[in-house]
Amino acid sequence: MITKIHHVGAVVRSADEALRFWRDALGLEVTADRVIEDQGVRGVLLKIGNSEIELLEPTRDDTGVARFLETRGEGMHHICFESDDVSAELKRAAGKGLELIDAAPRPGLAGMIGFLHPKANHGVLVEFATPPAGERHNGHAPAQGIGATHVDHVVIGSNRSADTAKHFSTSYDIEIKRTMSRPGTGAHMEFAKLDEVVLEFAGPGTPPDDEAPKASLRGVVLAVRNAKAAVARVRLAGYDVTDPNPAVQPTAVISAVKAGTNGVPFAMIQYGARPADAPANQ
Ligand code: CO
Repeated sequence: MITKIHHVGAVVRSADEALRFWRDALGLEVTADRVIEDQGVRGVLLKIGNSEIELLEPTRDDTGVARFLETRGEGMHHICFESDDVSAELKRAAGKGLELIDAAPRPGLAGMIGFLHPKANHGVLVEFATPPAGERHNGHAPAQGIGATHVDHVVIGSNRSADTAKHFSTSYDIEIKRTMSRPGTGAHMEFAKLDEVVLEFAGPGTPPDDEAPKASLRGVVLAVRNAKAAVARVRLAGYDVTDPNPAVQPTAVISAVKAGTNGVPFAMIQYGARPADAPANQ
């Protein structure tokens, strides 16, 4: 059974360079940092609430991660669902006709892991992981740095967001809790919640009839206690950040970091903030 989003993986050119943002500017705690020789990657995990951000730096040229970097550049690479039994998860997926990369679990940075083929999920690379027993349900890391408490949501963009949401929902028993069509912007969003993280499927209000569903990972948003303080801290570290803006809903403000996030669209959200708490736009 899938219980939560274990991590979101991003491919980076240099993990050391990437840590300047994810560890130093945001203040996230590094929980693992090692080279996995047979996969030709250096993997770094940074904890945030009950989930993690995984940075992958290729250490050789002949790997999937190296090819990804070569052809697409830095950016979001995969989403990893935690399961109590990765082997059963792979079998279940195969039984549903989903194409696998790994027929059986193998050891990875997050424990025993297995990947599905991107084809299986409208182009989104999905990993399953079962962490070592002692590392499961180990609770929240204390908020530090920008005062982020957890991953608020992960965005999957799709030309046919309703179809992609339905696919994830039926393939992984993830319940779609809310659907939102915004006629003004022509957008159609569907939302599922896994543990504390919302999985948002976003796409055009009118999907093209003649295209197969095509989806990709489009961003990570962290929940922070105080958006104004978080923005100040990230700015102090030298990053260009938008002012907290009540764009998402009247009870939340959101700020985006414009560059230096290793190709990962990144924003911070504070709930319960009144627009009056946000600094005036210049
Ligand atoms: Co991973």
